[in-house]
Amino acid sequence: MFSRKRAGLGVLGVAVLFASLTPAGGLAAGKEIYVDARASTERRVEDLLRRMTLEEKIGQMVQIRVGKLHGDCNNANGPLVESCLKAVLSDAHTGSILSGGGDAPVDNTPRAWAEMNNAIQRYALEHNRLKIPIIYGADGVHGHNNVISATMFPHQIGLGATWNPALQEQIGVSASKALRATGVFWNFAPVSDIARDTRWGRYYETYGEDPFLAGQLAAANVRGQQSHVDDTAQLTATAKHFAGYSAPENGHDRSPAQIPIRQLQDVVLPSFQAQFDAGVRTVMINSGSINGVPVHASKYMLQKQLRERMGFKGVAVSDWQDMKYLVDRHKVAPDYKTAIAMSVNAGVDMAMEPSNAAEFTSLLLANVRDGSVSRGRIDQAVRRVLKLKFDLGLFEKPYVDPAKADGAVVGADRALARQAAAEGTVLLKNDGVLPLPTSAKKIVVTGETADDVRRQLGGWTVEWQGVPDDSPLPPTATVLTGVREAVPGASVVHAASPAAAVAEAAGADAVVVVLGEKPGAEGPADTENPALTAEQQAWVDAVQATGRPVVVVLLTARPQVLGGAADANALLAGWLPGSEGGRAIADVLFGAVNPSGRLPVSWPRTLGDPTLTYDQLPGANTSASAKYDPLYPFGHGLSYTSFTTSGTSVSVDRSTGVVKFTVANTGGRAGTVVVPVHVRQPASPVLTPDQRLVGWARVELAAGQSKQVEVSFKLAQLALTVGDVDGDGRREVARGAYEAVVGAEKAAFTVR
Ligand code: BGC
Ligand code: BGC
Repeated sequence: MFSRKRAGLGVLGVAVLFASLTPAGGLAAGKEIYVDARASTERRVEDLLRRMTLEEKIGQMVQIRVGKLHGDCNNANGPLVESCLKAVLSDAHTGSILSGGGDAPVDNTPRAWAEMNNAIQRYALEHNRLKIPIIYGADGVHGHNNVISATMFPHQIGLGATWNPALQEQIGVSASKALRATGVFWNFAPVSDIARDTRWGRYYETYGEDPFLAGQLAAANVRGQQSHVDDTAQLTATAKHFAGYSAPENGHDRSPAQIPIRQLQDVVLPSFQAQFDAGVRTVMINSGSINGVPVHASKYMLQKQLRERMGFKGVAVSDWQDMKYLVDRHKVAPDYKTAIAMSVNAGVDMAMEPSNAAEFTSLLLANVRDGSVSRGRIDQAVRRVLKLKFDLGLFEKPYVDPAKADGAVVGADRALARQAAAEGTVLLKNDGVLPLPTSAKKIVVTGETADDVRRQLGGWTVEWQGVPDDSPLPPTATVLTGVREAVPGASVVHAASPAAAVAEAAGADAVVVVLGEKPGAEGPADTENPALTAEQQAWVDAVQATGRPVVVVLLTARPQVLGGAADANALLAGWLPGSEGGRAIADVLFGAVNPSGRLPVSWPRTLGDPTLTYDQLPGANTSASAKYDPLYPFGHGLSYTSFTTSGTSVSVDRSTGVVKFTVANTGGRAGTVVVPVHVRQPASPVLTPDQRLVGWARVELAAGQSKQVEVSFKLAQLALTVGDVDGDGRREVARGAYEAVVGAEKAAFTVR
């Protein structure tokens, strides 16, 4: 921990005083509008900007990895070192610092994080002429996941399965509180990319395959993250990765994507638009290329789409080292100086250049000096960065209170994490064995993920690729723990091998087989075989042969092709459910929670199926193999009770459609049902998915109860890119006949 290692020469002490920024700071008192919290942000920005040198401005356009501030100034672990801080924060005027996945203080506690960030901030404020605070960023993609003691929430794919925006908002608030308590005011989340290819290593980081669902959930999460709930500065969320990142051509992370403009505008961009409309303050750029152009060098993407058409006004940050990769990987620039000019001119405001602040700033300076980048463009980018810092309140509240950090993070919101994991669990199949009786005498829990915290938590947990072997484990309830707690009176046997499970099965009320996959992130998590392994299938086969009821619990990062495992008596998809995942699964297994999760993706039947999504366009061949034929379709999910919908009607005015219907719980148990509302067009000017999700109702009903519900949607949601094969047309809502589809019912309406 930094504070314990204060002794060494050159090592900074971190007894940070709560010095608030005073107007004095070396400038003529009374004249600095920018230090006046009552002045408008616009005036503050302009006042500060005119005082800054070109070097100081350029420093605001770079974000450096925290590893450059400690140890050997080159990512070796250790306490902050004065000479490293000087090089980055003082000499290069760097305006932002980040933790890459896993970058943490030596003693990875919330308090140590807060002390580290205060110390960095203090150094920055004391060593820059104008006292501009730095902003610290990290990936809090499922809670404050770099911190060992933090509550890990389910990864986004599981949250997509909840179809619950209100819950997403609460989860956003929770992440925001945890991050801010440790001095992190920029969260690189949520992911707004939509799931397209189960081979892709980041599939689990998405909210699912539907642009509308993903957009609604992401927007709710942003509202939560950016809400102001305590006395620290505020936090900015990030819409990432803009855009088209999730469709790499061969399923491998960052391989080139080919995306027709129609697909780009109608399928890829809407989830980003939803977040822009929700006020997200930053956007992170897609590391890949689209149609032969790296997005980091695309004016079309970063100006025409992002700014002009979509109206985004905040900060565009590059992804990891991506300006340099224009040279090293994409090979569209001969050298780094040219690459920086390309990317800054295309519209990237800040470079996540993790390693070399001085190199970046000197090259950008040279670009300005020789006219390759205009001063106007620098001012535009710096205005955005300064506005972000003013809006968040960092000038007034640059520090946090380390004494409060542990309390705000350790054990926080465990109940919310459990609720999220339970709501995201999808009951795929049930022949009646579930829920298991709480009076069970013996339960066998088996499968390689039954008691494996690392697999349950997945990538981006403690480290980039997941909890390393030599790290303490985040406090986590596995399925084994959850089952033991749910039926304290039963004998719960952990069978560590198929043979042991078979031997124990005799006399068991049920065998629960928990299957998962190796944790990972990005490229290392890609797979060419998104299917259960032969060993996993054999494990299920072996216990099924005993004739005892078998429940397969899938804790996977994607919908794996199941093969013979699909024959189990019951199947539950729990995704990567986080710290409370085991308890949540047990809640569903024993009926304490009646499952309401719905697939946010299509579940492929065979390895030949992917890439498979429910919004595939109609084809001209009518044979069965050409149709959408997943094992389980988008939106699928069973309950322990039964529901019906009826009486669907629809009305439209100039801008809005309202769909009304009655939902009834026709079974014997209370439950929550998600009812998707789709729209179809009997005839459309260009190919249109047979069903497009425009909204949904999430309704809680007691046994026998029914309710009339209303789901409204904006007619603008029906817009599609018209025009010919060149996709040159605009997005328009076609006039004419439509149908709203709810369950088995259709209600016609006309757009005039
Ligand atoms: C990822 C981003 C992440 C960044 C910082 C990149 O490799 O693509 O999603 O925010 O690293 O960790
Ligand atoms: C970092 C990640 C980053 C990745 C990019 C890793 O070393 O920890 O945050 O996303 O590199 O390749």
